[in-house]
Amino acid sequence: MAETLILPPSTNRAELYEALYPQIEALVATESDLIANLSNVAAALKEAFGFFWVGFYMVKEGQLVLGPFQGPIACTRIPFRKGVCGACYTRQETIIVPDVEQFPGHIACSSASKSEVVVPVFHRNGTVAMVLDVDSDQLDDFSEADAAGLEKIMKLIERKM
Ligand code: SME
Repeated sequence: MAETLILPPSTNRAELYEALYPQIEALVATESDLIANLSNVAAALKEAFGFFWVGFYMVKEGQLVLGPFQGPIACTRIPFRKGVCGACYTRQETIIVPDVEQFPGHIACSSASKSEVVVPVFHRNGTVAMVLDVDSDQLDDFSEADAAGLEKIMKLIERKM
């Protein structure tokens, strides 16, 4: 397994996701442990894009519980009805929030977080297993390119569950 990412000197997110995808695919291909794979995916996304916070909240005990992540310490438990993560769980779809202060019920784990994208990860039976939460310290930092790139990477995780 390659231990360093090779990325083009580009700031174009779609190009970066395209370069990153096969490397994440290779990274998770030979590992069956879910937590190990989620940990490396969080690290790869943080390294490739320099996001402020990247991590997973796992469905456990009737709520969302903090899983593998990269970035500052974060809230450990999020009720299904709360925050962007809860909304993503409930709606079962990716949510892009350009300005977290405009999102009713947003949970501010850090005041430095200004925008975010949250992507659901599904079990084979169609229920949500976890959500991927990516936070930026810039306003309006996420577009459909991020949603598409992150959803494609999460499909790799779904295939491993
Ligand atoms: N902002 C998220 C909570 C998680 S942290 O930002 C790491 C939310 O509103 O669901």
